[in-house]
Amino acid sequence: MTNNLLKGKKGLIFGALNENSIAWKVAERAVAEGAEIVLTNTAASIRMGTISELAEKCSTIVIPADATNVEDLENLIDKTMEHFGGKFDFILHSVGMSPNVRKGLTYDNLNYEYLAKTLDISAISFHKVIQVARHKDALNEWGSIVALSYIAAQRTLYGYNDMADAKALLESIARSFGYIYGRERHVRINTVSQSPTPTTAGGGVLGFNDLMEFSESMSPLGNASAEDCADYILSLFSDYTRKVTMQNLYHDGGFSSMGMSRRAMRTYEKGLRFDDVKENQYPFGHKAE
Ligand SMILES: NC(=O)c1ccc[n+]([C@@H]2O[C@H](COP(=O)([O-])OP(=O)(O)OC[C@H]3O[C@@H](n4cnc5c(N)ncnc54)[C@H](O)[C@@H]3O)[C@@H](O)[C@H]2O)c1
Repeated sequence: MTNNLLKGKKGLIFGALNENSIAWKVAERAVAEGAEIVLTNTAASIRMGTISELAEKCSTIVIPADATNVEDLENLIDKTMEHFGGKFDFILHSVGMSPNVRKGLTYDNLNYEYLAKTLDISAISFHKVIQVARHKDALNEWGSIVALSYIAAQRTLYGYNDMADAKALLESIARSFGYIYGRERHVRINTVSQSPTPTTAGGGVLGFNDLMEFSESMSPLGNASAEDCADYILSLFSDYTRKVTMQNLYHDGGFSSMGMSRRAMRTYEKGLRFDDVKENQYPFGHKAE
């Protein structure tokens, strides 16, 4: 299904590492909807991942940049504007990493240098990207900036570790900068709080498969996939959401409004995994309860 939703729009996409990445799906879908894009990632991720395949598919370029490095970001924005021949319309920040998670250090035993890196990469980089874009007046009026978040910013989910703190900061930056950029240039800034999704970053979280299974059993619509997430983000880049700003928008199949589902309750009552709860146990034929 394509509707030319982004026809004539141009955007910069951070964070496509490989075909599982949420940013990868956004890039593919944005181009299918008529957008022109530029891709970026760190030099190491460009080497290790498969972003050049995506660039070829999307007929575009990849500009290396570490999102924590302001000089890199200045060069990135300059080169992106050069490529587009002027200003552009949207930015996707799909960047996250915690050295504490990577090294298996738990929340009650954090390394503080790593914590500073987690916050810089996963949250403050969002501020840096927006600040550089604004200083360079890189975005058209009514442009749109989106970053990816997770519900651990609001609620404690064991295993998400210091990324929870990073996501809380990320969402706060969307509000604080959303006011400034919105007032001045009508640029909107939002975060999308996505279901657990099987990607390289997601898979690094302790107990990730159980977390996915739990949230699937709790969400009336089931977990949102990376493809679903891309579709939602496209709507935020489109002209149909011009007055939506400074929001953290849940894209999670209903998980964030649930307390306990029948399906999850049965799982715990019977000591079953949720897949063992058979469909014929639901009188109205609903699978996700
Ligand atoms: N996968 C999930 O379950 C899930 C759920 C909610 C939110 N998110 C968020 O979605 C975003 C994208 O993650 P993903 O799940 O697609 O995983 P991913 O591993 O495919 O993407 C993470 C990206 O961050 C990039 N990155 C890391 N450090 C960087 C730096 N210094 N500068 C620039 N880029 C850097 C990596 O190269 C990679 O491309 C992250 O913010 C993540 O926290 C993921």
